[in-house]
Amino acid sequence: MHDERFLITGALGCIGAWTVRNLVRDGAPVVVFDLASDPRRLKLIMTAEELAQVTFVAGDITDLAALERALDTHAINRIIHLAALQVPFVRANPPLGARVNVVGTVHVFEAAARRRDRIGSVVYASSAAVYDAADADEAGAVPHGAVGHPTTLYGVFKQANEGTARVYWQDARVPSIGLRPYIVYGPGRDQGMTSGPTRAMFAAAVGKPYHIPYGGRGAYQYADDVARTFIACARAPFQGAEIFNLRGSVATMAEIVGAIEAAAPDARGTITFDDRSLPFPEAYDAAPLERLIGPPPFTPLPQAVADTIALFRECVASGAMAPDAMLA
Ligand SMILES: NC(=O)c1ccc[n+]([C@@H]2O[C@H](COP(=O)([O-])OP(=O)(O)OC[C@H]3O[C@@H](n4cnc5c(N)ncnc54)[C@H](O)[C@@H]3O)[C@@H](O)[C@H]2O)c1
Repeated sequence: MHDERFLITGALGCIGAWTVRNLVRDGAPVVVFDLASDPRRLKLIMTAEELAQVTFVAGDITDLAALERALDTHAINRIIHLAALQVPFVRANPPLGARVNVVGTVHVFEAAARRRDRIGSVVYASSAAVYDAADADEAGAVPHGAVGHPTTLYGVFKQANEGTARVYWQDARVPSIGLRPYIVYGPGRDQGMTSGPTRAMFAAAVGKPYHIPYGGRGAYQYADDVARTFIACARAPFQGAEIFNLRGSVATMAEIVGAIEAAAPDARGTITFDDRSLPFPEAYDAAPLERLIGPPPFTPLPQAVADTIALFRECVASGAMAPDAMLA
């Protein structure tokens, strides 16, 4: 019998879907709290029987009362907070971005603070976007605890959330762990600035050409691994407010294209990219996270790329995804 009852904000998104899948497979009760109502990403990776075990709450993170209602109705004792607008959506509407990403996160911490007797900790998604490429050391990696100088409003808002977490620990003793993913890839990664490599995997799966609008070297993190890392942090006994970087597979875009071509040889020469690096550091020191949760879940890049392409092919063949689903 599980005494964990998870609420996942933004659970209909990419990382959220994998988080829900892993929790359901563990037998843990899980509540999806999301503004959207389309479970399409969950359906890519979960069976109908697994989906039937999930409780869905349509809710807006900018509405504190709605969040508190969901926490109390379902006697939630673990929160993984993923709801956010990604870089392009914040760029398109900064005031809404601030409401969802900053005020929404304050709501999560405030709700947890009011229920400290029941809710052990908040685990939340920050982002590698709190860093600028110049924040890396001479070897090109960001040391744990390095001060970030974000160059996007999205990164500034994520940095604000890290401060919110620190002060909720200081003032209200709400323990929290923030994780900073960089390039998350795999089934479900269909939106956001760094979704290009996963779109290219979809294109290769359906035999279409694709141009990734950036290149360079970066840390690639498989969505399933990232989700398992969030869950491991939610289960780790922890006091304080800490933020960890994630490692993943550090690879150039040419290596990503090579992995796609290895898994889908017919795609050779059809996946291209702009050789323009993103303005973020390439690699991140994740040793402190390993000290907390042990070796982080890690799927080697060639296997994760092959699994992703195989799943896309199955989904298109079964009609679960349209043949142009990720190419618009
Ligand atoms: N995907 C990445 O590469 C990446 C990298 C770094 C950080 N992150 C962070 O990880 C988290 C999850 O990312 P993802 O890729 O799964 O994102 P996603 O865009 O796939 O999903 C975000 C989810 O949040 C929901 N949402 C948006 N506004 C909401 C609101 N007001 N109330 C409730 N739900 C709302 C959306 O409906 C969506 O289901 C986010 O906080 C994101 O900023 C992601």
